[in-house]
Amino acid sequence: MVGETWLADAGGREMTTARKIIIDTDPGQDDAVAILLALASPEIEVVGITAVAGNVPLALTQKNVRKTCELAGRPDIKVFAGADRPLLRTLVTAEYVHGKTGLDGPDLPEPQMPLQDEHAVDFIIDTVMAHEPGQITLCLLGPQTNAALALMREPQLATRLREIVLMGGGFFEGGNATPAAEFNIYVDPHAAKRVFESGIPIVMMPLDVTHKALTKRDRVARFRALGTAAGIATAQLLDFFERFDERKYGTDGGPLHDPCVIAWLLKPELFFGKQCNVCIETMSELTKGMTVVDWWHVTNREPNALVMRDIDSDGFYELLVERIAKL
Ligand code: BDR
Ligand code: CA
Repeated sequence: MVGETWLADAGGREMTTARKIIIDTDPGQDDAVAILLALASPEIEVVGITAVAGNVPLALTQKNVRKTCELAGRPDIKVFAGADRPLLRTLVTAEYVHGKTGLDGPDLPEPQMPLQDEHAVDFIIDTVMAHEPGQITLCLLGPQTNAALALMREPQLATRLREIVLMGGGFFEGGNATPAAEFNIYVDPHAAKRVFESGIPIVMMPLDVTHKALTKRDRVARFRALGTAAGIATAQLLDFFERFDERKYGTDGGPLHDPCVIAWLLKPELFFGKQCNVCIETMSELTKGMTVVDWWHVTNREPNALVMRDIDSDGFYELLVERIAKL
């Protein structure tokens, strides 16, 4: 678990080894907040961020990753562009939620930091294979196309990755892209099927959790009150993002999805769930992209994911505010 290995640094002080992660993402305001949370957290070492097409096309998601790194004061982070479309389906985007740029809300400057030349899928494979088994955690915040391509090209990843922590799916809560499917899985169900059948330990943050992590007005106000560039931008991102979802769900604030992935790495005790089998529907026109979760263990299918169902949402926002304040 996080922080389990205690070492002494050169000065004899105690310190923990940081958990190495690759973030694969399609920003997206909530992706951006997840990236900020990771970059603000010393328990985590972000070895690279890979962009995928999803909320908006790849040309925008890779740029949005770089804008977010610069907002965090981390232009040194290596950012890679990956798949510009799903494995088999036509790309579906979500400008109706995230705005034309994907990061509507704050007025962030054009990024100056470079996009790396290497393809995201090559970076994932090279990085994981260059480390000892069990060293790298892959965090999936968008459609799972890059991860699936990497697994197809290098099947040994299945035994080399420590785990995959992902935002995707929904079961008691249903879907948000269709009545049955959550957006990330709906965009590339074939990729999700490959990921869920990989045998890699998976932690899944479905809508059942993220719909409880509401960006209520008083929570957003706490980010703004930080008075820092990152705090104000976070408030502006969440203000924009919740506009759509408040109308849709009739709640005070909208769901905050992707930061749940990073929060689990930092404080798993904020989340509650159980090991279940999850299968992905790829065929049916009506339910394509549905995550079929065997919550009650009514089949003999082996559990393949730790499926979360609940969250301590106050604790989650405490963590977010505390960390964003450090940027
Ligand atoms: C997921 O889809 C995107 O809109 C969000 O960034 C999140 O990853 C929620 O369904
Ligand atoms: Ca996302």
